[in-house]
Amino acid sequence: MSVNIAIDGPAGAGKSTIAKLVAKKKGYIYVDTGAMYRAMALYLHRQGVDPAGAESDDAAKAEEVKVKIVELCTKPDISIKYENGEQIVLLDGENVNGLIRSEEVSRMASVSSAVPEVRVRLVQLQQKLASESDVVMDGRDIGTVVLPNADVKVYLTASVEERARRRFKEQQEKGVECDLETIKKDIAERDHRDMTRKTSPLKQAEDATLVDSSDMTIEQVAEHILSLCK
Ligand code: DC
Repeated sequence: MSVNIAIDGPAGAGKSTIAKLVAKKKGYIYVDTGAMYRAMALYLHRQGVDPAGAESDDAAKAEEVKVKIVELCTKPDISIKYENGEQIVLLDGENVNGLIRSEEVSRMASVSSAVPEVRVRLVQLQQKLASESDVVMDGRDIGTVVLPNADVKVYLTASVEERARRRFKEQQEKGVECDLETIKKDIAERDHRDMTRKTSPLKQAEDATLVDSSDMTIEQVAEHILSLCK
């Protein structure tokens, strides 16, 4: 039986950094499920789906966008492979790693990941990966839906202020102009969407360990999670 470690939590809590580090230390595969939702979102964006429409006050318009997403989401082939330990997401065979971190794709992913038909497809792929290999998998619903029997479950969070500060610093280091208040507002909006959607909302699994990383270093968080794996 493969060993499965599930790490869930809100955007910007440091899940991917920590999950990668834990996977490296344990010699497991790191599975970034958000990247799969992002690849689907890129496909939908390329097909001209307008994410703003899905949240429109005009119910008919919102329904039209959802129907379009349901119809389109079965079409692309999304898979992953590993090169030098790095996860590569393939959208119809194309490596899209460099294309899925833009604001438009983030926005679309937040909207399209709320559509049950999108989740069904990607959850199947995630469960297959976890049954075949020892994995550290991060996302929003890993401990609650994807791997309810995971060996270790962690709910990793940090305050909105701290997550916004980290994102701001990251963007500044990349030379991207940004505004702390806008980032804070975006994070709060994404939290709200992820936590209040009907299908697989972000929430702490009953048997998950809560880790608040606001005042912890990356190493401290990783060590803490590794201690839970013993
Ligand atoms: O973790 P991330 O920011 O790369 O995730 C992108 C989007 O996908 C985000 O809006 C949340 C959603 N997501 C999800 O609904 N379920 C997951 N298991 C992972 C991500």
